[in-house]
Formats: sequence, structure tokens, C-alpha cells
Amino acid sequence: MVDISALTSLRTPTQAESVIEINSPNQISDLFSRGFFQKPFYLLGLGANVLFTKDFPGPVCVIKLKGRNAVAKNSQELLVELAAGENWHESVMWAVGNNWSGMENMALIPGTVGAAAVGNIAAYGQNQQDIIDSLTAVNLTTGQTETFAASDCHFAYRESIFKNEFAGKYLVTSVTYHLFRTARPELSYHAARHASLLSELKRLREVSEVNRPLRNRAGAAGTGSSRTDLPDTDQYSVQEVAAAVISLRTSKLPDWTKINTAGSFFKNPRVPRQVAENIKTRIPDLQIYPAEKLSYIPPGREADFVKIPAGMLLDQLGWKGKKIGHVGTYPHHALVIVADPGTSGQEIYEFAEKMRTDVQTQLAVNLEYEVVVV
Ligand code: EPU
Repeated sequence: MVDISALTSLRTPTQAESVIEINSPNQISDLFSRGFFQKPFYLLGLGANVLFTKDFPGPVCVIKLKGRNAVAKNSQELLVELAAGENWHESVMWAVGNNWSGMENMALIPGTVGAAAVGNIAAYGQNQQDIIDSLTAVNLTTGQTETFAASDCHFAYRESIFKNEFAGKYLVTSVTYHLFRTARPELSYHAARHASLLSELKRLREVSEVNRPLRNRAGAAGTGSSRTDLPDTDQYSVQEVAAAVISLRTSKLPDWTKINTAGSFFKNPRVPRQVAENIKTRIPDLQIYPAEKLSYIPPGREADFVKIPAGMLLDQLGWKGKKIGHVGTYPHHALVIVADPGTSGQEIYEFAEKMRTDVQTQLAVNLEYEVVVV
């Protein structure tokens, strides 16, 4: 058995039978022909969204497939194929560096490209499912590589077919995204709210304006008081949006490279609209989002349900910054669990269950795990 604590962002002391790095499609074929995938195994990317509560009896495969390939589509759009083992944030910054728009709101989310697609990650109104054109995956029963159009991936809020029915049956090898060649800022996400992406963009622009040399500032003496040297305020660049997202995430989420965490631990729950209205009498600021794209809503009944922020419910119940033993929540975000070095997966799980039970008992809301519990 080998220690795999360094392979997950929660860094729980966990043992697995062995660790195999998957670096090439040929290696997958080779493993397949040796019957490797017929016994229990576990696929990992960066391990940023998984909690091992016990040792794993089989090998753990770390997907390290690398490669980025941009394919022209037309003068406005392009297709970008990323290998599943590419680092998600680095890939975003590569696209941002090329001025390609579509993934910049998802900057700084920890993980690999494959895991990003499998978990249908999202942030600030941009979702994997909205920019994925197709993906390739090896069918681990036949050994064949298959291509899935986005519509075949059964994407829903933080879900895909590869996280559910096809878990352990397919290995995602690459994801093709469609991006725009010029900035298409998606700033509608809670735009009216304090600390929204839009308000952060405005704040950063003001800071950069203040820091510019006086002679270059808009309206400065000698410039004829025209504001022509200021960028059009409605049109933020891809770089500005990425910088604002990074600034927001850095201010409220822990740095996973230094602190043991897996980001949001639970999904934002869906509740019947009336339940949300009742909770609002107790939490007047409660935000109510439309329930579209939530997997657990019966088709056609989306209008009856709404999504509410789990972080706000937990905060209201006193969970923000609360610590029990070696586990707590981040002082700036009640939905984010953080653990001391060396904390067992079981202890983290028990803490999470206490959070879940409290929300159930006090608000009659069922929290579902966003993190994959193994
Ligand atoms: N809030 C509180 N107290 C808290 C935490 C949050 O009152 O302790 C409030 C916030 O002020 C805000 C609302 O709850 O009004 C929602 O919080 P936030 O904007 O931080 O977003 P979230 O719904 O908690 C989701 C994703 C995040 C993603 C952000 C931004 C889920 C489970 N989480 O968080 O994703 O970064 O939106 O788009 O959907 C992740 O999946 O690991 C993750 C970090």
C-alpha cells in the first residue's frame, strides 16, 4: 500500500494499493489489454473535489495526459482541444493570454480539464456545459475511444454522465471547448449584488486609474478632459475579467495549495419556492436563484423549485469559521471546509455530516455533497 495524501487537496492520510500516472493514450490501451480496468481502480485529476474516508483497496490512476490544440472555426469563434490532464487554471490563463473568451470566469478553480468536464464546474455564470463542444473518452469495457457531443454528456448542476452512470466505465481523455476570439464578458451573475463580478471589475478599474501617472489620467490637466484614454466601461477585456475573478476568489476562498480544502463541500440546494419564501422570513437577505440546469428537478417543473445558497444557510446557523477538533469552515465562507494537516477523512466526513444534520433539523433543507465522498 502507498500513501496518497499528496494526491488530494484535502490531503487526508489515505493508502491505496498503488499509484499509476497515465501519460499517454497508448498507456491506456496497454493497461486495457492487460485487464487492468476489470478490477477496482480510482481515477484522479488534481484531487481537488474528493474526500477519501477510508483506504482504497485498488490502484489510483492520476490522469496526466497533456496537450493543447486550437482549431480555427471561423473569424469569431475557435475550437480548443485540451487533454484531460491539463491544469484547468493554467488552461484558462493560456486562453486569456490569447484573448480568447469563454472560460475566464472559471479562472483559479483547482482541477484538471477532465475533472472540470466530469464535474461540470462553473463560476460567476460560466459553466463547462455551455462551452463544451464535445469530449473524447475511452470506453473501459471495449477499449475504444468514443466522442461525446455536449448533449450526450447529460450535464446538470455539478453533474455529468461521467460522474454518475459512466463513473469507472469511461476515462475522459480530452475536451474540446468553443471560445470566442474577442471578449464576450459574462457579467450578469448577481450583477446587482455587492461583491459581484461586475462590482469587482469596476473597483479594479478605479484602482488602476488611481495608480496611473497623473498626466495619463482621464480628465487630467492637458488632456482636454476627454475620457478617451479610458477603456469603454461596458467592454471589459478578457484579462480584466480573469483578474477580477481571481481577486474575488482569493478574497473569500482558501488557497488550496497551502490549506487542506475541497472548495464548496455541498451543492446549493433546490427547494420548493414556498420553502425558500419561508426561510426568507428568517434570513431576509436570502438569494433565490432559478432552478434551471439542476439535475434533481423533474423536467418541466423547474418553475416550482428554486436554488438557494447553502453558504448563507450555514452562515446563518453559525457555521462560518466554526471549528470542531481538527476540522472547521473557512472564516470567509461557511460552505468551505478546511482541515488541519493530517486530519483523517473520517473526521472531515463526520464534521460535514454535523453541518448537514443541522441544516436539515433547523431549516428542513437537505444538503447534497458536491465533493465526491469515497
Ligand atoms: N454567503 C454567506 N455566508 C457565507 C458564504 C456565502 O452569506 O459564509 C452568501 C454570499 O454572500 C452570497 C451567497 O451566499 O450572497 C452565495 O455565496 P457565493 O457567491 O460565495 O457563491 P456560492 O453559491 O457559495 C457557488 C459555487 C462556487 C463558485 C461560486 C461563484 C456551488 C456549490 N459553489 O458558490 O464554486 O465559485 O458560486 O460562482 O455551486 C466550488 O464548487 O468548489 C466552488 C467554490
